[in-house]
Amino acid sequence: MDRSTIPVIAIDGPSASGKGTIAALVARELGFHYLDSGAIYRVTAYAALQAGLALEDEAALIDMARRMELRFEGGEVFLEGQAVGDAIRTEEAGRAASRIAVLPALRAALLERQRAFRQAPGLATDGRDMGTVVFPDARVKVFLTASAEERARRRYKQLIEKGFCANFDRILQDLQERDARDAAREAAPLQHAPDAVLIDTTGMTIDEVVRRVLELYRQAPAIPAPKA
Ligand code: CDP
Repeated sequence: MDRSTIPVIAIDGPSASGKGTIAALVARELGFHYLDSGAIYRVTAYAALQAGLALEDEAALIDMARRMELRFEGGEVFLEGQAVGDAIRTEEAGRAASRIAVLPALRAALLERQRAFRQAPGLATDGRDMGTVVFPDARVKVFLTASAEERARRRYKQLIEKGFCANFDRILQDLQERDARDAAREAAPLQHAPDAVLIDTTGMTIDEVVRRVLELYRQAPAIPAPKA
C-alpha cells in the first residue's frame, strides 16, 4: 500500500521538551493517529532489562525487539498483554532507552514498527528522528525545544503529579547527559534538521504551541515539493 500521501506531522526535540504532549494534542485536534516513538525505545529497553539482557548486546536486543508483542491502546502501552505505561516512564527506563538507542541495527529493526502507524487520515508523531529518518517526507517537521532548566522543571512536575519520587538536580543532570548522548551518537542523532521549524517553548503555553503547529500544518503544501 502506498502510504506516501498520508500526511505526517513530525515533532522532534530533546527530553522533556513537551513533544509528546503537543503531538498527542495535535493528533486529537485533527483526528489523526499518534505515535510516541520514545515509548518504543523505552519498552524495548524495559523488556531487555526484564529479560536480563546486556544493553550492549545488539544481536540479542534485535531478536527480542522483533518478537515482542507491543500494542498501544487508549493512551496505555501493552507489552505481551501487560500494561507497562508507568514502568517505562521511570528515569531508569529513560536512561536505558537512550543507551540502546545508539545501536544502528536495532534502530533499523524498529523502523517498520514505527512506519506502520502511518494510517489515514494522518499521523502526528514525536521523537528524535521522526522528520530526519523515519518519516523524511513528513508534511510538517518541527524541532521543539526549551531551556534545560525549564525542561527539568516540567519533568519534575510530571513525576510528582504521577506520585513518583523526584529530585530536581538529578533530573537536570540526567536530562543533560541524555541530550549529550542523543546528540553525539552516530545513528540518527538528535538534531535540528534544516527543513524543521524551530519552536522554543520556554515561556509558551501548551495551547500556544499546539496552535502554532496546527497553523504550520494548514499552511503546508499537500504534496511535498520535488527536490531541486
Ligand atoms: O520523554 P523523553 O523525551 O525524555 O524521552 P522519550 O522520547 O520517551 O525517549 C527516550 C529515549 O529514547 C531518548 O533519550 C532517546 O535516546 C531514545 N529515542 C530515540 O533515540 N529516537 C526516538 N525517535 C525516540 C526516542
